[in-house]
Amino acid sequence: SGEAPSAATAWWRESQRQRLLELAAEATPRYVYHLPTVRQQARELNTLAAVDRLHYAVKANTHPAILRALVAEGFAFECVSPGELRAVSAIVPEATPLLFTPNFAPREDYVFALGTRAAVTLDSLYPIEHWGELFRGREIVLRVDLGRGLGHHEKVRTGGSGSKFGLPLDQLAIFLQLAETHGVIVRGLHAHLGSGVLDAGHWGEVYAQLASLAERIGSVTFLNIGGGLGVPSHPGEARLDIAELDRVLREVKAAYPQYQLWMEPGRYLVADAGVLLARVTQQKGKSAFRYLGIDTGMNSLIRPALYDAWHEIVNLSRLDEPATALYQVVGPICESGDVLGTDRRLPEAQEGDVMLIAQAGAYGKVMSSHYNLRDEADEIVIE
Ligand code: LLP
Repeated sequence: SGEAPSAATAWWRESQRQRLLELAAEATPRYVYHLPTVRQQARELNTLAAVDRLHYAVKANTHPAILRALVAEGFAFECVSPGELRAVSAIVPEATPLLFTPNFAPREDYVFALGTRAAVTLDSLYPIEHWGELFRGREIVLRVDLGRGLGHHEKVRTGGSGSKFGLPLDQLAIFLQLAETHGVIVRGLHAHLGSGVLDAGHWGEVYAQLASLAERIGSVTFLNIGGGLGVPSHPGEARLDIAELDRVLREVKAAYPQYQLWMEPGRYLVADAGVLLARVTQQKGKSAFRYLGIDTGMNSLIRPALYDAWHEIVNLSRLDEPATALYQVVGPICESGDVLGTDRRLPEAQEGDVMLIAQAGAYGKVMSSHYNLRDEADEIVIE
């Protein structure tokens, strides 16, 4: 299209395009991360005056250079497994705050996390009921289910009766009773409703609900209102309004000023900073469709198969040529779901062309697999 590229895509469309072609000539499939974009996103979130602490949800992308870049921007970190805690601890300074927010984790994970400086989140009765001695005298965070979920796809909504996350509010009284029995102090309340949310108002409601629960509990000093900050993926989708988010949060915080406000975004920081580069392998015309084959698929990026996620795909070798073909962009994996993009208008492609799959910095490499024993995409960081 003749439209000016958005800030989110300008780095690969314009300034780094030649560099990306060189990197693809060395090896594909390959993830490339643009650190200035990570910093830009981090700085935008750091304008949220209402937020006291931002934890990067490292599950979105655990590349060490990204963790270091976010340390430099003053971020704290949220981890969901001992593996993530270890990876982060190896890189961030001693004083950086950590948060451990697991779900259905085994007992030994809590033992491990309690031996670190991480604030530990519980999200069911079971740990305190069965392993109470672990938590005796400790301060914990309690994740509650506010009864509703949000997000870009059913599979990423983490609240409501169909979700496995959080303590249902009708069990709160029992939890508090158990906490008292075992001498456990509920210092923080947490809710995370889902991922890929573009409506700023939602976090204000979460803060207000958690604050009113905190009033009942008494020992709470901070409210973690989760992550889930979305980035637009389809052309024309509106961006999350960060200034509006700050206004909403300042308003609810004015009503309950006694609590610190924490957030834990993942995607927002890294999604647009990453692209996946692949090469054209073969083409096939079959019934009404033209298939464009590339050298990686759902093994490198599972989001289209898992969530019907839409990722922009361009032919980087022919960015300036007219989009005269209609392609189904597919990988080499032996599954019918191995489709990265359907009905894409692209220039007529040739074997060896470099295809770029955009917005792959979040939940890309971290969710990749060895399926079919295909080589995994490597990861390169650029400035
Ligand atoms: N906090 C908690 C407790 C979470 O479970 C998550 C994500 C986050 C924070 C960060 O959410 P974010 O800001 O990145 O939306 N694989 C899916 C997303 C799953 C998110 C899982 N939890 C996807 O590719 O869309």
